[in-house]
Amino acid sequence: MTDHYCVFGHPVNHSKSPMIHAAFAEQTGEDLEYSAIEAPLEDFAGAWKRFVAQGGKGANVTVPFKEDAFRLCDSLSDRARRAKAVNTLILETDGPTQNGRIRGDNTDGLGLTRDLAHHRVTVEGARILVLGAGGAVRGVLEPLLQARPKALFIANRTPEKAVQLAEDFRDLGEIAGGGYAEVEGRFDLVINGTSASLGGTLPPLAETVFAPGATAYDMLYGAEPTVFLRWAARQGARPLDGLGMLVEQAAVSFQLWRGKRPDTQVVRERLRQLLD
Ligand code: ATR
Repeated sequence: MTDHYCVFGHPVNHSKSPMIHAAFAEQTGEDLEYSAIEAPLEDFAGAWKRFVAQGGKGANVTVPFKEDAFRLCDSLSDRARRAKAVNTLILETDGPTQNGRIRGDNTDGLGLTRDLAHHRVTVEGARILVLGAGGAVRGVLEPLLQARPKALFIANRTPEKAVQLAEDFRDLGEIAGGGYAEVEGRFDLVINGTSASLGGTLPPLAETVFAPGATAYDMLYGAEPTVFLRWAARQGARPLDGLGMLVEQAAVSFQLWRGKRPDTQVVRERLRQLLD
């Protein structure tokens, strides 16, 4: 019997997830359908319930429902609990009774660290600067810190949010937070997790922020490089966008649902071609 999965978002019509999961299913021979569902802003729980009633087994969750999904879960992975956000729902059924318990996970951070590894960017021992202190950044901090950077600084327009975020993750590694004016020294990896690029603006950083051989990573992606990546490339940093992270986080979700780890390379290439 075909199992059903979906991505919930609002809006969701431009989501690449159905294409990615269809490619994974084809590649691994898994019998599943994956669709995009626009849940009502006020009733995420209702949309999930209807989906399960129709045979849904699991879902991805994107903007703006990751916190709603978090609240819906009966159990959570450690990284989802830390992130306070869930991007993967798994319906756990106990045999014939089919009593569904909802398990929540967050695969965004592992998606990021796997994408960095794919591009041979070393996190261990690196000095990392993370821009932004919203949900996108909170979602990736645990796997990033588990990769053992030398130090990680979170810079944010509203400094108090960065300070608080660093405080919440202090037990996992060398982490601090503050405003952009407090950014000191050079970094091997600068990750943009703000939504500033969407408005075409640039976080206020010194041109000297990049160490020799540094990488600039934007969690956003598109047909054109973001304003942050264009600026970083001009300073000599290697620019990477978030397309690989999107594919990798999907692969981790797929593995949670189906127990098979798909090959991401061909899907990356296909997606990149579609963007161009
Ligand atoms: P998301 O879920 O995408 O992280 P969010 O939680 O609203 O969304 O967080 C957006 C982040 O982008 C925040 O860190 C925000 O900074 P503030 O905390 O000061 O609001 C940051 N951001 C948005 N627009 C920005 C801009 N023009 N310049 C700098 N930072 C910006």
